[in-house]
Amino acid sequence: MWYQTKITRLLGIQYPILLGPMGGGFSTTALLAAVSNAGGLGSFGAYTLSPEEMLRAAEEIRLKTDKPYNVNLWVSDVDEQLQTYPLKELERVKGLFKPYFDELGVPLPDLQTDIPSKFEKQVEALFQIRPAVFSFIFGIPSPEILKECRRLGIKTVGGATTLDEGILLESAGVDAIVAAGFEAGGHRPSFLQPAQDSLTGTFALVQQLKAKIKTPIIAAGGIVDGKGIAAALTLGADAVQLGTAFLACEESNATAVHRELLFSQATKYTVLSKSLTGRMGRMLRNRISQEVPFSTDVLPFPLQTRLLAALKPEAFRQGKTDLINFWSGQNAVSLTHRKAEELMQSLIEDVSEVCPSDKDFD
Ligand SMILES: Cc1cc2nc3c(=O)[nH]c(=O)nc-3n(C[C@H](O)[C@H](O)[C@H](O)COP(=O)(O)O)c2cc1C
Repeated sequence: MWYQTKITRLLGIQYPILLGPMGGGFSTTALLAAVSNAGGLGSFGAYTLSPEEMLRAAEEIRLKTDKPYNVNLWVSDVDEQLQTYPLKELERVKGLFKPYFDELGVPLPDLQTDIPSKFEKQVEALFQIRPAVFSFIFGIPSPEILKECRRLGIKTVGGATTLDEGILLESAGVDAIVAAGFEAGGHRPSFLQPAQDSLTGTFALVQQLKAKIKTPIIAAGGIVDGKGIAAALTLGADAVQLGTAFLACEESNATAVHRELLFSQATKYTVLSKSLTGRMGRMLRNRISQEVPFSTDVLPFPLQTRLLAALKPEAFRQGKTDLINFWSGQNAVSLTHRKAEELMQSLIEDVSEVCPSDKDFD
């Protein structure tokens, strides 16, 4: 059967369909539970959460599902240059964005460069929670962390944007690798070369990894329906991970404006931009994504996020939502489902239709 793969056996799930973790506040326990309860793997993007918030989310999850799920963290959650970032430079770069603040009548925020990484403390919470799966991006956790995951029975899943990153993840002994193609919505989580030099498409990356590594592969980026899933499995993926299609569902924490845009003509064009957070990611093309080109200086991550976050409430209030970036993958044009459970059912039915019942991808 198409749905019996290395990944379903490894993770103890029924279908090789994973909810993409969506950090920065887009994941919800309701969305996670809808996907896990439908036989896929629900995920929670937790990189901005404190350890206490992670533990509270795990409590909520326990009430909503007893099925396996994934908690996702960022190994690198603060840019290295932040600690030594000159104050003069901070003020200069802030000034580049002043016209937007003036337009909305919002003062430029005070920003501190002293932002410690949360990752180590989050991992301690993760060990307490003991989810079935720990997925991570922007690097590889230390051998000690990976060893402790093995001891606790937590499967580890690392994100790769290039073949070299996949090879490194395999040599670190992770259980599975997400092939994150450049079609994907959200951040481009490269960790060996800059994101702008790591632009391999999902299907090319799946095939490259399949040719050179043995670790199970999860295809992510631009997959929104059963045909996309069947194609990824045919090319050698052992599972798929969908972000944008679930972001558009009402269980996600996307704003109503964001969700409507994902069902609109706005989905025709997406761009890779670092203007929103300081790290490159894929979002809908709009006024701000066009006016702040890739060459514009931005603050190191996560300072740029904090700078532009100060604009958001007023931009929403004044209806100037083209001054806000909205995450989206490249393939949102044909989205139809607004409920996660219905999306899951339709994905499963559609793959079953495309793949004969005796089709085995192993
Ligand atoms: C709003 C948003 C936030 C995301 N945050 C994370 C994250 O924190 N960690 C992660 O591993 N992937 C993150 N992703 C990537 C998704 O998990 C998934 O791999 C990707 O969306 C798949 O591509 P698609 O959007 O074309 O379906 C995010 C994606 C979106 C759209």
